[in-house]
Amino acid sequence: MSVNKEVKRITTETLRQMKHDNQKISMLTAYDYTMAGMVDKGGIDAILVGDSASNVMAGHETTLPITLDQMIYHAQSVVRAVQKALVVVDLPFGTYQSDPQKALDSAVRIMKESGAHAVKLEGGEELVKSIRRIINAGIPVMGHLGLTPQSIYKFGTYKVRAKEQEEAEKLLADAKLLEETGCFAIVLEKIPAKLAAEVTRSVSIPTIGIGAGATVDGQVLVLHDMLGMTYEFKPRFLRQYLSLHDQIVEAVSQYVEDVKAQEFPNEKEQY
Ligand code: KIV
Repeated sequence: MSVNKEVKRITTETLRQMKHDNQKISMLTAYDYTMAGMVDKGGIDAILVGDSASNVMAGHETTLPITLDQMIYHAQSVVRAVQKALVVVDLPFGTYQSDPQKALDSAVRIMKESGAHAVKLEGGEELVKSIRRIINAGIPVMGHLGLTPQSIYKFGTYKVRAKEQEEAEKLLADAKLLEETGCFAIVLEKIPAKLAAEVTRSVSIPTIGIGAGATVDGQVLVLHDMLGMTYEFKPRFLRQYLSLHDQIVEAVSQYVEDVKAQEFPNEKEQY
């Protein structure tokens, strides 16, 4: 898709300014060209090429199996469609945790091969050196605290995180550290709304919540969840704006019926 020079692109600086001006930031995931184009046209501020692609696109139980090559493929498809939104790409599990050089190499591959604008990674204090290395190379980094799905086997459950004081204090300290290290924003996933509000007040960079209440600087949802495509996934924090699962199944069964009954194609639908 050719770039429309009239459209003013959203940058990490735009998001910083939005927090400053008390304007809420909207973010959704996308993984492919067609959906990303619609999300961008809908006026979204930022698109996350999330490693949730592992679940919703590939059908894995967790986000762990998705590879760097697969994330780059999804990111390339999204970037081709997007005119305005900031495109952030998840560094997948195993591509940044071992050492800062590996983290930088993975982030560079994403930026160079997809044309995305920033990367996201999960974790706090333990990742400071890697985050610094990536940012020093000129790559913007979004942090992710609270429920970090790449650590699901450590947590053992997808329940709300940081309800206890010790974990809440660590999360707050991590958020401040991510800000000091130079992250441009932080995703806060599935934590008590009160804690998310405290983090949001305590850092000058935007916080983007998912299951973190209303007192954050922005919201993110998985696109397939908010469109009602992921049938059985209905956590309390999710608002479904459509029921696409049911509508698609209905449309397909109508098509099957029409083909079998020789009602499709009709005379106007042929040459
Ligand atoms: O991968 C993803 O979709 C995410 C969001 C849940 C924030 O990280």
